[in-house]
Amino acid sequence: MEISETQNKMVPPRHIAIIMDGNGRWAEQHGYLRVKGHEVGAETVDRMVSACAEIGVEVLTLYAFSSENWQRPALEVAALMRLLRHYLRRETKRLIEKNIRLRAIGRLERLDSAVRKELEEACRKTSSGSGMILNLAISYGGRDEICDAAAAICREVQSGKYTCDEVDEKLINAHLDTSGLPDPDIMIRTGGEFRISNFLLWQLAYAELYFSDTLWPDFSKDELLRIIDDFQQRERRFGRVIERGKYERDR
Ligand code: IPE
Ligand code: IPE
Ligand code: MG
Repeated sequence: MEISETQNKMVPPRHIAIIMDGNGRWAEQHGYLRVKGHEVGAETVDRMVSACAEIGVEVLTLYAFSSENWQRPALEVAALMRLLRHYLRRETKRLIEKNIRLRAIGRLERLDSAVRKELEEACRKTSSGSGMILNLAISYGGRDEICDAAAAICREVQSGKYTCDEVDEKLINAHLDTSGLPDPDIMIRTGGEFRISNFLLWQLAYAELYFSDTLWPDFSKDELLRIIDDFQQRERRFGRVIERGKYERDR
């Protein structure tokens, strides 16, 4: 399927969020160590970043490492961090060429200093990109993020900047790591599990959810385009009764 076939029907989704799951199982199925699955999974990242930028998606959020993934064996965590550094080193130039701006969400202070430095560097070097935002969720947990936002708001209430009555959706949004980004329109999880695993708990309130059995290293542009095509047929009501053909939330 060509991009234009999908694109012509309607505007592309503004924000796609993906739980990239199934690397370990892919490796096991092919007789490799889990780390090999993560390496091949990084190639899928390249393909999806290019495809989403081409389609005209504004934000692509990729769940790369969860707050719970710190509990994995130290060797696997170290391998994932090494891969992340390699990815950033290798891809920064290409992101700049594609006018993509890198951003990261999560408790980045938990990353070791070399990884954090590489990440900050990549974000800085791509900061003038005016095309797609590639938003990497690293050491990220939705509950952590909400706790951090709540704590920050409490401090501001204490200091007299806001009153408790002024705490609303908008203020909470502004204190989340994703501040300034639109909510995801589509959330895709590969790897066959039907769960959210602490991903964007607040932001996914009205996302359209897609669960694919495909393991992340095998996930293709074609499958992404089929999902976008399906998304464009869905009627998003946001709790209302709406006129036929009116899909967009108008607030
Ligand atoms: C997703 O693949 C990548 C990360 C969580 C970092 P997994 O490593 O969870 O792969 P499976 O689920 O064990 O197959
Ligand atoms: C979710 O996958 C986290 C990432 C893809 C980064 P997991 O493999 O860690 O999730 P669970 O353990 O199956 O819920
Ligand atoms: Mg998994």
